[in-house]
Order: sequence, then structure tokens, then C-alpha cells
Amino acid sequence: MEDLQGELRALTAGIRTHLEARARAGLLGVSRAPCPRMNRAGDEPANALATPAAEVQPLTDPADLETAFASDSEPPLPHAGHGLTLVRAELGDCQRCKLAKGRKHIVFGTGNPEAHLMFVGEGPGADEDAQGEPFVGAAGQLLTKMIQAMHLAREDVYICNVIKCRPPGNRDPEPDEVAACEPFLKKQIAVVQPRVIVALGKFAAHLLTGEHTPITRLRGNLKHYQGIPVMPTYHPAFLLRDESRKGEAWHDLKEVMALLKHMGV
Ligand code: URA
Repeated sequence: MEDLQGELRALTAGIRTHLEARARAGLLGVSRAPCPRMNRAGDEPANALATPAAEVQPLTDPADLETAFASDSEPPLPHAGHGLTLVRAELGDCQRCKLAKGRKHIVFGTGNPEAHLMFVGEGPGADEDAQGEPFVGAAGQLLTKMIQAMHLAREDVYICNVIKCRPPGNRDPEPDEVAACEPFLKKQIAVVQPRVIVALGKFAAHLLTGEHTPITRLRGNLKHYQGIPVMPTYHPAFLLRDESRKGEAWHDLKEVMALLKHMGV
């Protein structure tokens, strides 16, 4: 019995050390559930794979982790969603650029915080600003169909934008606005740790690849952001305006599917 208790104490200490090291490294993405991170056609429905929300309590401050580990009680296991909660908390009621004045909602991001696949768009439009969720308008409906064509659901992937607030009249984001939001996109990527990113349109593609060639030439060419493969492709809003480009976009998405399959995810 004493042996067993000793083993349990050693196991608990080992887990605590591991989680503390991850927390110090800013890796807050540990799930309690042994869930595969992506659903494919023919697998269980996406909801069956998701960690029930009730199982985890959001942390609001990195110090919460220290407090949690300071006690002798069983350490709670944080979820990747907590990492995103911390990034969202840091963004707060953002006033870092002039877009704050006209916005209704900050549009942070949506989907699986542990997704293998991340889509990064440009910035919220009127529908997204009204609802506080990315890609819910006409372009969003097309994006949802594109995701479904990849045998995935919106809930399987993570979706966000370069800028989190709607520019007036849906104009292009300006450099100071992109610069103000960039650290938050970077943190979202760092927390989610996607295996592949799809950059939708020139703003996401230019920011994530560091290349400023036209999207017509950039698309379909696999690039990297901090070691993560990035596939630049057309923005769904552009595809709504020019349907003849849909074949190229589908080609790019099939490349992404092949890459994920090659990675075994
Ligand atoms: N276009 C984008 O780039 N993002 C959205 O969220 C909606 C439309």
C-alpha cells in the first residue's frame, strides 16, 4: 500500500513538473480528453470528439496556473482553450488602433482550439462585426462549404482573421491596424499550434509568408510561418466575385488535405 502511495506521489509530481514546464514555455494547450484533433468523413461526429465544455474551467490569468500547482491537491489539467482565453483577456476591450471607435464587436476567432488546420482571413465584415464571430456572412458561408468539401466541419478547424475589428465600409486594413493586431494573431497560432495554416487572401498571405507578390502568383505555393506550412489561396469573398477561380482554390485545398494526410493527421 505504501509502495502504491509512493508511486502515485511520484506520478503526480512528474505530471506537475511537466505541466509547469509547459506553462513556463507558454504552452497552455493540454487537453484532458484523449480526443483526435480532427474529424474526417466516416469518423465519429465532431461533437463526439470535442472536450465537453463543462469539464474545464477557464483560467483568466497565467498566475492561476501557479496557484493551481502550489497546492497539494490534484493539479487541474489545462486545455488549449485556456490559452486562447488568456490571449483574448490580454486583448481586452482593445483600443490599440482607430478601428476600436466604429466596431460593435471584437471578432477574435472560433473553432477547435486544438485544431490541426487553421484558416486566417482578412478582417470582419458587417455580419461578423454584428455577431462577433469570423466568417458568418456570405464569404463565411462559402468558407464553410470549402471546409466541408475537405471532409471537415467548422468545429474541427480554427478560424480567425489578421485584424479583429471591422474597418469602416469594409475598406482594406491599414498598416498600423495590421501591426496592432499582429501580436494577437501570432499568439493565437502559438496556442493552437496548427499543423497547417490556410491564408485566405493577400493580407493573410502577405503577413504569414513575408512575401508581397500578388495573390494570383502566391496562391498554391506552400510557404512557412515559423516552421508551420502555410498555403496561400484566394479569399472566399474574391471567389464569390469571380467563380472561375474556384478550381484553383480547390486545387490548393486538396494540396492541404494531402499534406495533412502525409502528416498522419
Ligand atoms: N472576410 C474576412 O476576411 N473575414 C471574415 O471574418 C469575414 C469576411
